[in-house]
Amino acid sequence: MTEPAAHHDEWVRRPAAAEQGTNCTAAQYAEMYARSMADSDGFWLEQAQRLDWSRQPTKAGDWRFDPVSIEWFVDGALNICHNAVDRHVAAGNGDRIALIFEPDDPAGEVRRITYADLQAEVIRMANTLKKMGVAKGDRVTIYMPMVPEGAFAMLACARIGAVHSVIFGGFSPEAIAGRVEDCASDWIVCADEGLRGGKTIPLKDNVDAALAKASVKAVLVVRHTGGDVAMTEGRDHWYHDLSQGVPGECPCEPMNAEDPLFILYTSGSTGKPKGVLHTTGGYAVWVETTFRYTFDYRPGEVFWCTADIGWVTGHSYVVYGPLQNGATALMFEGVPNHPDHDRFWATVAKHKVNIFYTAPTAIRALMREGAEPVNRHDLSSLRLLGSVGEPINPEAWRWYSETVGKGALPVVDTWWQTETGGVMITTLPGAHDMKPGSAGRPFFGISPQLVDGDGTVIADERTGGAASGNLVIDRSWPGQSRTVYGDHDRFVQTYFSTYPGKYFTGDGCRRDADGYYWITGRVDDVINVSGHRMGTAEVESALVLHDKVAEAAVVGFPHDIKGQGIYCYVTLNAGEEPGEELAAELRNQVRREIGPIASPDHLHFTPALPKTRSGKIMRRILRKIAENETGALGDTSTLAEPGVVDTLIEGRLNR
Ligand code: WTA
Repeated sequence: MTEPAAHHDEWVRRPAAAEQGTNCTAAQYAEMYARSMADSDGFWLEQAQRLDWSRQPTKAGDWRFDPVSIEWFVDGALNICHNAVDRHVAAGNGDRIALIFEPDDPAGEVRRITYADLQAEVIRMANTLKKMGVAKGDRVTIYMPMVPEGAFAMLACARIGAVHSVIFGGFSPEAIAGRVEDCASDWIVCADEGLRGGKTIPLKDNVDAALAKASVKAVLVVRHTGGDVAMTEGRDHWYHDLSQGVPGECPCEPMNAEDPLFILYTSGSTGKPKGVLHTTGGYAVWVETTFRYTFDYRPGEVFWCTADIGWVTGHSYVVYGPLQNGATALMFEGVPNHPDHDRFWATVAKHKVNIFYTAPTAIRALMREGAEPVNRHDLSSLRLLGSVGEPINPEAWRWYSETVGKGALPVVDTWWQTETGGVMITTLPGAHDMKPGSAGRPFFGISPQLVDGDGTVIADERTGGAASGNLVIDRSWPGQSRTVYGDHDRFVQTYFSTYPGKYFTGDGCRRDADGYYWITGRVDDVINVSGHRMGTAEVESALVLHDKVAEAAVVGFPHDIKGQGIYCYVTLNAGEEPGEELAAELRNQVRREIGPIASPDHLHFTPALPKTRSGKIMRRILRKIAENETGALGDTSTLAEPGVVDTLIEGRLNR
C-alpha cells in the first residue's frame, strides 16, 4: 500500500457541479472557519439554532484541557430524538422517508419508514422500555443487527433519557459481558439472530452466554429471522409481545445539554476497551452540522453510510446526523460481496442513492473485482462519495473516484474518531479541491496541530507550513467525548497526559504546504483491521489466557485489503509443542474472548521474544519482521539476546 511519492500532492479539481447550489463555497469556508476560531461562542450558538431546544443555550463552549473539564451549551436543554424525529413530523414532513431498509437477501422485503412511522415505532419501543422498568439515566445495552429496530432502540433510549451502549454484532459473549458489567447495564435489547452474507449470527445465544457471567434485569428480544432461540422465563421478553397495548404517546424527556447520551466502547493501547461517553447537546449540534456540510446534504436525497450502528460511524451518520437533518438514510443489513461483488452498486441503483459513504477496506476489496461489477449498474444517481475509518491509499481513492464516480463526483475523505463524535478533517465538496490520500482541511472549530516528541508545535493553522508529527487538537469542539464512563482519570491519562493541555489523537500526520492533512496511521499500539479499531494488548490478553501460552506479542502489518492484519508472536510454556491444532485453538480463543473480527492472520510460535536487558519487549523489531522489512531492523544492540532476532526472521510468516 505504499505509494510512489509522485502521487502525493496531486490535485484533483472539485467538479464544477459540486460548486453549484452548495451550502459552502471556498469563500464561505474561509469566512466560517475564521469565525469559528475567532468567535467560537457566536459561531456555535448560531449553528445550534438549527435544532429545537426546550431551553435555549446562552453559552457555547466552557472547557479547559488542563485540568480537564469539557462542557458545551451547558444551560441549554433539548432532546436529540425530538430533533431527529418529532420536529420533522411537526413541520409537516411526516410523509418523508426517514429510513430505507435493504435486507441481506436482495430478494427480501425492503422497508420504507416515513418520519411519521419512525415516530410511532420509536414511541412503541420507548414505552416498551419503560414497561420493563428503564428510567432516565439507566444504561441500556443494544446488540442488534443492521435492522431499523436497532435505530428505533437507540432513539427510544434517547427519547426517555436512557443511555445506550451499542455493541457491534461481531463481538463475542465475553466482550458483551465485560461491557454490560463495566457500565452496570441492567437491560439488553437484541434480536433473535442477525443475517450477514446469508449466514446467521446467533445474537440471542451470544447474549445468553454473556449472561452466564454478567447479570441484567431483563432482555428485550426483537424477532428478526424467526430462528429458534431460548427464552429465560421472567428475564427475556419478546418485543412483539411486550409492546402489545403500550400507549401511543411518549413525551421526549427534556435533557440538559450535558446529560449523557451514549457510551461506546473502543480500543486503546492498554487495558480493556474504554466506554467513551458522549453527552447530548454538543453531540447533537456536532453531528447535525458535520453531516450538513461534509455531505452538502440536499433535501430529498438518499444518503447511504455502509457502517454498522455498532460503530461510531453508524451512530453519527446512519442515525443521528442524517435524521436530525431530515434526510433519507439507507440501512443495509448485508455485506459488499453477497450474493455477488456488485451488491453495493446494485443497491445504489435500486434505491437511487445520491451520497455513498464507505470504508477504504471495502473499496480495496471491490477494486480487486475490477470495473465490470460496477458497470453492470446505472450509478447516475450518485452525487458524492465519502470514505472513513482508515487512511485511503491514493490508488483506491482513484479507483473509487474514476470507476464508481466516473471522474465526476467530489470525494470526501473524512478523518475522525469515536472520541471526536463526528468528522474533524475533510474537504468540503463545494469548497475544496481534493488530493487523493489526504483527508484535507479542518472542519469548523477544529484546530489541529502537529507536535514533535517533546510536544513542541511544528505546524498548525496559525503558523502554516509543512511538517510531520503527532496529531493533537488544541481546543475543544462540541462533539468531543467528555469522559471515559466511570473512569475520568483514564480519560485524562489517555488523551491529555502525553501533551498536557492538548487532546492527543493517537495518530501520526503530515501537513503539506497547502494546509492539507495526511493521516499516516496510529502511533500507539492500536491497529486498524478492516476499519475496526483494536488494541494489540487485548489480543495479547486473549492469547495468554490459554494455559499452554507463556507470552504473546501482537503487532499490525500492512494488508492489501484489510489495511492492517494481525500478526501474533507466541511463546509456549516449557514442554509444550507448537502445531496446527494449537494454532487453531488459539484462533478460537481470540474469537471467543473478543470476537471473529479479531482473528489472527499469522500465529508465529517462537522460543523467545526480543527483549531489552531490562525485559521490555522490543515491538519495533517485531513490527519490522511482521512487515517483512527485515533489512531495516535498526539498532539491535540493546537486546538481551540478539540471536532471537535471527530465529524470528528465519521463521517469519508474512513473506
Ligand atoms: C483512523 C472511526 C485516516 C485513525 C470514525 C483514527 C482514519 C481511527 C480516517 C479512529 C481517515 C479514521 N483517514 N485514518 N479518513 N478515519 N481513521 O474510533 O487512525 O473507529 O484514529 O473511528 O481510525 O477509529 P474509530
